[in-house]
Amino acid sequence: MKTNKQLFNKLNEQINRELHASYLYLAMSAYFEDINFPGFAKWMRMQSKEEVGHAMKIYDYLIERGERVVLTQIKTPKTEWKSPLDAFKGALAHEEKVTALINNLMDLAIKFKDHAAVSFLQWYVTEQVEEEANATGIVERLKMVKENTPALLMFDNVLGKRGA
Ligand SMILES: [Fe+2]
Ligand SMILES: [Fe+2]
Repeated sequence: MKTNKQLFNKLNEQINRELHASYLYLAMSAYFEDINFPGFAKWMRMQSKEEVGHAMKIYDYLIERGERVVLTQIKTPKTEWKSPLDAFKGALAHEEKVTALINNLMDLAIKFKDHAAVSFLQWYVTEQVEEEANATGIVERLKMVKENTPALLMFDNVLGKRGA
């Protein structure tokens, strides 16, 4: 069964969105390296890699469905933030945006009765719950830490322990 054209276009576009998220988190990682928070930098670098995985999952799905993936230009990410809190707030806001995009994709898949796409997108719906929860948890803890340098350094150390 061919994927509905509108749904295909949006899925194809989502590859770009996920790669843009990857780019944004890599930019945040570079920012954290620059201000000497190697733990936050590592967390963001890993997050960046995860987003490439999200993009590739859609890439592979579309190929499996016999579609032709079309890659487009990736938007330049933001490069400056005011503080670690500001950057993680940006990450949370970005995840909320992605959740809305995933929900729109799911709405389309349901509308066109594309059960394979519904099943495929279910993974992203669940993943977004985790992504938002992770970012929210970090933002909340950074709010508690405020300008307390020892606490900030300790938290940097904690996030630097993030595994794959
Ligand atoms: Fe993602
Ligand atoms: Fe994400």
